[in-house]
Amino acid sequence: MKLLRVDPERPDPAVIAEAAAMIRRGGIVAFPTETVYGLGADALDPAAVTRIFAAKGRPTYNPLIVHCADLAEARSLAVEWPPAADALAKLYWPGPLTLVVRKNPIVPDEVTASLPTVAVRVPNHPVAAALLAASGRPIAAPSANRFTEISPTTAEHVAKGLADRIDLVLDGGPTPVGIESTVVDLSGPHPVLLRPGSFDASRIAAAIGGLSLSTGVYTGTAPRPAPGMTPRHYAPRATVFLLLEDDPARSAAAILRDAKASTGRVAALLRELPTIDGVDRIVAMPRDAGEYARRLYSVLHELDDEGYEVVLVESPPDDPEWAGVADRLARAATR
Ligand code: TXA
Ligand code: MG
Repeated sequence: MKLLRVDPERPDPAVIAEAAAMIRRGGIVAFPTETVYGLGADALDPAAVTRIFAAKGRPTYNPLIVHCADLAEARSLAVEWPPAADALAKLYWPGPLTLVVRKNPIVPDEVTASLPTVAVRVPNHPVAAALLAASGRPIAAPSANRFTEISPTTAEHVAKGLADRIDLVLDGGPTPVGIESTVVDLSGPHPVLLRPGSFDASRIAAAIGGLSLSTGVYTGTAPRPAPGMTPRHYAPRATVFLLLEDDPARSAAAILRDAKASTGRVAALLRELPTIDGVDRIVAMPRDAGEYARRLYSVLHELDDEGYEVVLVESPPDDPEWAGVADRLARAATR
């Protein structure tokens, strides 16, 4: 794997041109978006898209998000562009919002897991934007991690999981948002939130007159609307426990009593509690939801690297701003 450093604010056109040429040749390239690093390929080239699944070890029933240079390109991949999509694109693009719409037949089945819909977003990161512009292609890109592992927020995280499996990574430093985009399905009669992300989704509901929450957890191999719907996803190697809200200290003591005998070192991600007895490493996490999201995956990667086997996590507040973080923590804690 070749690693090319690139200025995240003003990417060098020569470096971008090299990555864009790789995309046009059917190669796969990891690149930073504002949320997490993506592993991209030409979305209209089925063979290139297949290489993404092979590199990630991702089951083919998981559809990919297609990144677009602008609204016009996104619309060109849809057979129908509902008014709600226009409204949300106007409010959030470029940005960390993905829209699911009915697909144009030019989008290969490899991208959409044969679903009649396609997920599109216009990312707000200068490196992603430059790569899309230079390649002249829509770029299908899941997060650049092995299937079920934690999403990467740095090029080092990408290399850890995929170094021997991909052609090129553009290293634009840490990604600013830190958790994956919000996904909203606009292909049916009612808009549905498939995956909460970095912002309060009630703003979406207000903008388009309602938003239902996706309920189902999918199992088996039927195409699933969101990997978020595979119960265990975004998980570190360590066993993650969410502490009970009412009495986190007591809940930690109970978990440690059960866990200590059989396991090694224990870390805790705390927000309000100053400390927990019997924990080897305390990580003081930010009290702001956005800051917390930005740090979360990076901290989990670090604890994995350092060999912690148990991670206790103080529960996030029950507040719409925290929905994305709460979702990722709940999945990390699923066994
Ligand atoms: O922030 C992000 O969204 C990052 C960056 C790289 O853009 N990408 C990402 O991709 O998180 P991935 O593959 O890890 O998650 C894609 C999400 C999944 O929840 C997937 O199921 C959903 O988008 N999705 C893709 N196509 C879909 C479709 N046709 N219908 C419903 N959901 C879809
Ligand atoms: Mg992912």
